[in-house]
Amino acid sequence: MARLIDGKQNAQQVIDEVAVDVKKFIESYKVTPCLAVVLVGEDPASQVYVRNKIKRAGEVGIRSIEHKLSAHCSQQELNALIQTLNTDPEVHGILVQLPLPKGLNEEEIIAAIDPAKDVDGFHPMNVGALSSGQANLIPCTPLGCMLMLKQVMPDLSGKKAVVIGRSNIVGKPMAALLLQANCTVTVVHSRTQNIKQICSQADILIAAIGRPEMVDADWVKPGATIIDVGINAIERDGKRKLVGDVNFAEVEKIAQAITPVPGGVGPMTIACLMKNTLTAAIAIEQAKLPLAS
Ligand code: GUN
Repeated sequence: MARLIDGKQNAQQVIDEVAVDVKKFIESYKVTPCLAVVLVGEDPASQVYVRNKIKRAGEVGIRSIEHKLSAHCSQQELNALIQTLNTDPEVHGILVQLPLPKGLNEEEIIAAIDPAKDVDGFHPMNVGALSSGQANLIPCTPLGCMLMLKQVMPDLSGKKAVVIGRSNIVGKPMAALLLQANCTVTVVHSRTQNIKQICSQADILIAAIGRPEMVDADWVKPGATIIDVGINAIERDGKRKLVGDVNFAEVEKIAQAITPVPGGVGPMTIACLMKNTLTAAIAIEQAKLPLAS
């Protein structure tokens, strides 16, 4: 049976470390790290994510400000809010919960965020910094995956890693991080041929497709490490249930280590958001200090 990679426990460790560092930050700079969370519309999943992010921020001593806009708000309104947050000296981090409602241009909004406050690491400048190995702000979900992966595989060098999914939020930044850790990286997606065969050669398999239990045991090399990014609500035996992109019950029989859903990647994503908010706050406050003569 596979070793379980406990996301809750890993996340708590990150949270505890961030809480200590937030205290030190407040003592040094005499300001509190502040995260602005923007929620547009009433998507129930987004509402839950935003609530959890705000709750966690409170627990580590980060101040959070929630901005709720109607699903019918205009691009200009949203842009104006971003500009206000960009220039607000008290705000260190800006998070716009995705996906945005139809009619709003997501790319344009992401590009409008000050890269120094982009705690999601989605701004083109931060994406570029990540791919050239100079990132300060790394997308939260892939960052969380890497921290969990390193727990069970301290040396990733030379390992074959396959990422299933090529989203800007997970797949692409995940591939960049694995490459930086000296893995041999393959990204597979909906147009890939022989996807199962490619996956079955992976030492490390990252599933980020958003399809319930798509990765079955015959996709997995015995002894592989599996990170399941999927969170899919399904109905089974008349009950609503959350499952990942991996058929956990079958795959845990042959994998070396595996993350569960729920309680795997999810809690780590939020913990990494707290870490990023503090990272952004440090860089911003440091830049305000007069240059030492
Ligand atoms: N929607 C799903 N994942 C994310 C994330 O990591 N950040 C934001 N802003 N929206 C998301």
